[in-house]
Amino acid sequence: RTFRIAAIPADGVGAEVVAAGRTVLDALAEDSRGAFSFDWEEFPWGCDYYAKTGKMIDDDGLDRLKDFDAIYFGAVGWPNVPDHISLWGLRLKICQSFDQWANIRPVHFLPGVQSPLRKADDTELDWVVVRENSEGEYAGLGGRNLSGRGPGGEVALQSALFTEVGCERIMRFAFDLARTRARCKVSSVTKSNAQQYGMVLWDDVFKRVAQDYPDVETESVLVDAMSAKFVLKPEDLSVVVASNLNADILSDLGSALAGSLGLAASANLNPERRFPSMFEPVHGSAPDIAGQGLANPIGAVGSAALMLDHFGLPEQAARLHKAIQATTAAGVLTRDVGGTATTEEVTKALIAHLAD
Ligand code: NAI
Ligand code: MG
Repeated sequence: RTFRIAAIPADGVGAEVVAAGRTVLDALAEDSRGAFSFDWEEFPWGCDYYAKTGKMIDDDGLDRLKDFDAIYFGAVGWPNVPDHISLWGLRLKICQSFDQWANIRPVHFLPGVQSPLRKADDTELDWVVVRENSEGEYAGLGGRNLSGRGPGGEVALQSALFTEVGCERIMRFAFDLARTRARCKVSSVTKSNAQQYGMVLWDDVFKRVAQDYPDVETESVLVDAMSAKFVLKPEDLSVVVASNLNADILSDLGSALAGSLGLAASANLNPERRFPSMFEPVHGSAPDIAGQGLANPIGAVGSAALMLDHFGLPEQAARLHKAIQATTAAGVLTRDVGGTATTEEVTKALIAHLAD
């Protein structure tokens, strides 16, 4: 069958890594001899588009996206547009409009990639951060200049929203995921000692939902302690479920611990499949290296593997993972992971290893 994918490369290295991911996926489809194929449509939205039109996405943009099988996203944000405008105007708009309430971010070691955590080459690291992606600290609630006193005396408020329904669905998602993994454990993360309303609700719901999963090991950890645990005891983690902000921060830490932000993949899922889900590397537009062929495409290619899983093609996803491992094991590495290969060289190696 043919999968219709909307590609939104957006800004900076987004364009480079989306191009790499598309090339790899097309090579995979070609190799399937008609078993499946991808029909791509590319959209020009992003900061340059905003600079030209005053819009991060066309007014009918969401309508045009809604019937695709998936969205393959690069990264949004560029110094010519304030970050809160570009992020809210495009990426968060898609996530929220399409109710992509579950964001998953797996982290694992890759052969041949130096990690600050790895003591010996046989140390294993394999966890997945499950991020509540629809509310929490990114609910967009609050306002500026609430004192009415203006510059010098301004008061701003930024609230976090926690609903019982929102907490419960992300926790059930995390527990169900834990049951599919070798280590059947869910770690819940809050700061409920200091944030006494929403995060205490989160803890309460976690305890209640856990009762439905007696076979799954659980723990509740404060976010500051969890960040230490990521570094000191990573082998103790399997599924980590956290609110929007906490999971955002922890997953960047996780990918850095695996070796580079450029390696980390993510999926923004609408588990009910009423709307398309969106697949994107965890990293941003990386203005410091954009346009130089230095971007690591592995985060974007790993995100493409999550998209294949979502399409019901797990064997193909596994082939991509194997190709990624063979490529890093062979030492074909971009600069962020200590190598000298270009984005294009890594992409070519990935395609060559699909045949392994
Ligand atoms: P960033 O993720 O773009 O870059 C952080 C560091 O990681 C930089 O040193 C960069 O060179 C490196 N890096 C990132 N991706 C890489 C890759 N594929 N290969 C090799 N190295 C890579 O985060 P930063 O600098 O805080 O943000 C830059 C812009 O991206 C901002 O406008 C920000 O708002 C936006 N952003 C967008 C995200 C998204 O679209 N999902 C996520 C994070 C940031
Ligand atoms: Mg982030």
